[in-house]
Formats: sequence, structure tokens, C-alpha cells
Amino acid sequence: MNLPLTNAALLELDHQHMIHPLHHTETHAKGRVWVRGEGSFLYDADGRKYIDGLSCLWNVSAGHGRQELADAAWKQMSQLAFSSGYTGGSNKPAIELAERLSTLVYPGINTFYFTSGGGESTDSNIKVARFYWKVKGRPEKTKVIGRNWSYHGTTFAAMCATGIKAYWPMFEPRIPGFSHIPSPDPYHYPMPEDGSSQGIAAANELEKEILRQGPETVAMFIAEPVQGGGGVIPVQPDYFKRIREICDQYDVLLVADEVITGFGRTGQMFGLERYGIEPDLMQFAKSITSGAIPLGGIGMTDEIAETITSSKTPWMHSYTYSGHPVSCAVALATLDIIENEDLPGQAATKGEAMLQKLHEALDDHPHVGNVRGTGMMHGIEIVKDKQTKEWFDADFGLGAKLTQAIMARGLYTRVRNEIICNAPPLNTDESVLDQMVDIYKDAIIDVLGS
Ligand SMILES: Cc1ncc(COP(=O)(O)O)c(C=O)c1O
Repeated sequence: MNLPLTNAALLELDHQHMIHPLHHTETHAKGRVWVRGEGSFLYDADGRKYIDGLSCLWNVSAGHGRQELADAAWKQMSQLAFSSGYTGGSNKPAIELAERLSTLVYPGINTFYFTSGGGESTDSNIKVARFYWKVKGRPEKTKVIGRNWSYHGTTFAAMCATGIKAYWPMFEPRIPGFSHIPSPDPYHYPMPEDGSSQGIAAANELEKEILRQGPETVAMFIAEPVQGGGGVIPVQPDYFKRIREICDQYDVLLVADEVITGFGRTGQMFGLERYGIEPDLMQFAKSITSGAIPLGGIGMTDEIAETITSSKTPWMHSYTYSGHPVSCAVALATLDIIENEDLPGQAATKGEAMLQKLHEALDDHPHVGNVRGTGMMHGIEIVKDKQTKEWFDADFGLGAKLTQAIMARGLYTRVRNEIICNAPPLNTDESVLDQMVDIYKDAIIDVLGS
């Protein structure tokens, strides 16, 4: 069929035949049909150009239109487009990728299982944790603790681990055995009155929850090094060290969800590196292929891998596309870009400079409560009242208004109600980053006055 040409006509046809992630008819009506990407820019069907302020979904970290990735996919597809990765079968790109990851991720993690994305990775880690404790002779250790405002995907177990409550109501009942502790959010977590550390107090929430659940029943704690979709929430410097101690004390596996933070976004290759601790399990997706093709995975410590490989009962967990040769070939080409162009270094220096400029431009605004970030991921939190940190009423529709005002100025990003999320490709030019700061400021003034 000849597709219509305009954005509006394409959207109309789309609406007749497609359901989208987070589908909502009203939002859909204002949607864009993307036709081209180049560097840090996206183009819609009407030929309008937008700065990609979120690397699409935090994933296109190396920028759009990378010929190296297309070439890697073409080369692998021509040779072997697919083969089974089930036990008894493997392929060269998957083997090479797993070996290369073992040199890049935390030193204690050398074994990997590949998935097609983040949600599948969360489910896989939950199943690894349960399997591990069963093999260890502690089958009662099955529970999962997560955090409020965390996002771990929407496959069913991942949805239960996710702590953004809006994802739950229409799919209840959730799986039993999942609970959440407060986010350590430095802007909102109460400051201890005795002057002790806010980060330690927030981490101690985990100990309280483990004791409440019964340590003998808790399998794992899952956390993003920087909460992403929940509103870009970096933690206090002492938080994760205390979390590691608590997990060790109560035999709870620490799972790092590095789906956004992995491969450079925080300014380091992985998000927990700066805290001097290592997780027992980690998961990744998104930037490992810079979004060019679906791929995710989990990594496990040698001890956990040994438990799986030495088990007499097989690990009955499987995805058709685990270790897909084309995805793995594209991942290897992406890792070349990440290393050759020092994307983590670019995220650190450009991201820090952008954070300073966001502070200079926005801190004085009467409704900008908090500007924060690590590397190339920033959050701008809007409040009704700076003293009380109270948010605008939901009826005001702040998120939708800000999104429209930002889009109208040629910048694409996502707003979590009151928090503007900023996460452009890690190699975005500084002049474009400056332009983005101006757009955020103008859009906020447009919606809320100066
Ligand atoms: C931290 C984190 N974990 C998991 C996921 C889920 O990934 P996917 O959408 O590929 O299932 C996301 C997606 O944004 C994420 O940000």
C-alpha cells in the first residue's frame, strides 16, 4: 500500500491498527511519526527537526545514524542471521560479546545470559536469585525488595519489582512476595533530626524491610544506581556502601539494574563503580546496542554462575532470541564506539557542564525545586511551592503542558508529571546542549510564568 505522507494522516492510520507502549488515545493524537535520525537529531514525517533530549528512550547513547552498526548487522545477517542459543548451540558473536563484557563490567562478574531487553533481564535475575537459593538449600528465600520510584520494566515480574505505582492498578493482583522501600531521593527523603547521614538512614530502610519480611525469606534487593524513569534520582555518596553491607549481613543478593546507567551514561562505564562496591547480579540493555537492535542481558558473579552450572537440575529459563547473533554483532560494534570515542568520558565532562548551566538558568525560577544529575542524565523537578516541595495538583496537567511546550520548541523528551528528564546522546555537541538549556527555561516560563 502507499502510505500517507503527513504526520497527521500516518498517525490516523497507526491509530486504526496499533496499540503502543503506555497507550493512551489523547497522547497518541499529539504524537510524532519519526522517519529519520542523525546524530542528536530526529526528524518527523512533516520534515520537522527535533533535538533528541532522551536518546529516544535513554538508549541511543552513541547518536543516530551510526553506519558502523548497520554494517555490523548486515555482515552478520549475511553470514548467519539466526541460530538457536539453547543449550547445545551457540554462535561466535555471542561468545565474543560475553568474553568482552567480562573485561568491562565489575571484576567479580564474568558470566552472562542474554535477553532481548530490560524487562526480560529483570525477570531473568529474579529467576536466577530463586534458582540460586534453591540450589543452596534455602528454598524459602524467594522475596524481592525494590524501591519506590524504581523502574525495572513491565513484563509481569518486572512490573511487580517496579516501584512506580501507576504501572500496577489495571493489572492487579501482583505476584506475592514483592515489596518496596522509600527512594533515597536526596530532595525528598527526610533529613535525620540527629544530624546523621541521610544516605545511611535511607539505606537502613532496607534493613528494616528485610527484618519485617524475615531475612530467611528474602532472595534479592534490586536497585538502579541512578533511578531513571522515576525522575532521574542520583543517590547520596554513602548510600550504596551501606546497602552492600546490609545485603551481606542478611544473605540477600544485590541486583544492580544498569539498563539505563550501563555503558557510560553516568560518566563511568557502570553506575556503581563510583561507590566502590560490586553487585552480585547486574542487568543491562539499551545502550549496549545504542538502541539499533534489541539486546539485553544479565551478569552474575563467579559463585552464582558456578551454582547454576553445577546444578543437577537444569536452569529451565529460555528465550528464543537469547544471544541473537545479529544483536550481539551490533553490540560488539557499539562497544567499539563506546571505547574509541570515550562515551563515558564525554558523558562525565559534557554532562557536568550541562548540569552547571541548568543550575544557572533555572535555580532562581520560583517553581524549579531541584536540578540534579550524574553524567549525562539530569532531572528538573517542578514544584508548586519551593518551601513545602509540594507538587502541582494532577488536574493542572503539568507534565502534558511541559511536554508540549518543550516539543513546540524542537526538543523531544519525557516528563514524569513534575520532573523533566534530560538524557541526550553522550556525544551531543556542547552548542546543542546549550540550546537545550535555553529551551527548558523558555518552556518552563511559558507554562508557569517567570
Ligand atoms: C532501569 C530500567 N530497567 C528496565 C527497563 C525495562 O527495559 P525494556 O523496556 O527494554 O523492557 C527500563 C526501561 O526503561 C529501565 O529504565
